[in-house]
Amino acid sequence: MGGGFIPIARPILGDEEAEAVVRVLRSGRLAQGPEVRAFEEEFAAYLGAAYAVAVANGTVALDIALKALRIGPGDEVITTPFTFIATSNSILYQGARPVFVDIELETYNIDPDRVLEAIGPRTRAIVAVDLYGHPAEWRALREIAEDYDLSLVEDAAQAHGAEYHGSKSGTLGDVGTFSFYPTKNMTTGEGGMVVTDDPSLARRARLIRDHGQVARYRHAILGYNYRMTEIAAAIGRVQLRRLDEWNEARRRNASLLTRLLSSVECIVPPGERPGARHVYHQYVIRVDVDSCPHLDRDRLAEKLREAGIGTAVHYPRIIPDQPLYRRLGIGCATPCEKARKAARGVLSLPVHPLLGEPEVRRVAGAVEEAVAELSRR
Ligand SMILES: Cc1ncc(COP(=O)(O)O)c(C=O)c1O
Repeated sequence: MGGGFIPIARPILGDEEAEAVVRVLRSGRLAQGPEVRAFEEEFAAYLGAAYAVAVANGTVALDIALKALRIGPGDEVITTPFTFIATSNSILYQGARPVFVDIELETYNIDPDRVLEAIGPRTRAIVAVDLYGHPAEWRALREIAEDYDLSLVEDAAQAHGAEYHGSKSGTLGDVGTFSFYPTKNMTTGEGGMVVTDDPSLARRARLIRDHGQVARYRHAILGYNYRMTEIAAAIGRVQLRRLDEWNEARRRNASLLTRLLSSVECIVPPGERPGARHVYHQYVIRVDVDSCPHLDRDRLAEKLREAGIGTAVHYPRIIPDQPLYRRLGIGCATPCEKARKAARGVLSLPVHPLLGEPEVRRVAGAVEEAVAELSRR
């Protein structure tokens, strides 16, 4: 990948994945068979969770989690305004109301103190995200959930293999959800997983995934077709075996990049809290817009593109500022100043496992040069 363009993300798919797909095709069994079952068992074992339910994508995983918890019209669910739209849309799917509270700038995750401020008589649940692969503050969130009798959903779509005080992301709430979209730390093409230790939630999740079918053509509750294919599961089983190795490569690249960027003015590299194991689904720097108003994030991204470095902005707009949420009149319950600051300043840089030290040094050098150039003007 030497002097060529360095993309922000790239799925790693090799012979083993190809062989797994061919194995499924030759078997003639394409839906809800042994591969899905084995993937569920292996994924649950990897996380140290009792149950895993494989589904079509990370969005329906969230939908199932909230339906399994019986969130419905009239309920409020506290969540972060700074995430991918699927997180809060899944609350809308229930006819419930997302209540957005501000984030912590250090990790970009929901701030438990702000959660406390937003709890009201209709609050039923908290959906927190382990954004970019860094776990949210689950000890504080758990305490709040217990004190106020709220359900806790962990959107771990970006955090395969991340850890929080020795426990894996996905196991930190009452229900955890994952996405296996191609840019994620592991992929199945499209895919998702619902994870829980609670047998009744697992049972409901399985029913919701498959038209509420308790026996063949006997439908007990309103369900959907949210199933994962055998092909996707077969790919996922191969990817899961490589996940730790890939995450280590991401962490190695991230650590070097942070070291190289630590002296670059105006740039705040990502942090890792004590007790947290960040898996750098995204390696996200922030332009310090307060002390460096001259440095425009989008111009920095442009300069990096010219230097052959792919970047992305996760996310340029907080969810309450999206046209849909404006129209629905769902704003921030506590001022979302930090989330807005993040949306103005964040920029994701490549650290994926296909990059080695020379490429990471190139990324750091290009950032340093671009910041210097944009600061001279
Ligand atoms: C935080 C978060 N939640 C939910 C999702 C939804 O997952 P999917 O794209 O598989 O539906 C994604 C990923 O796209 C995500 O990043």
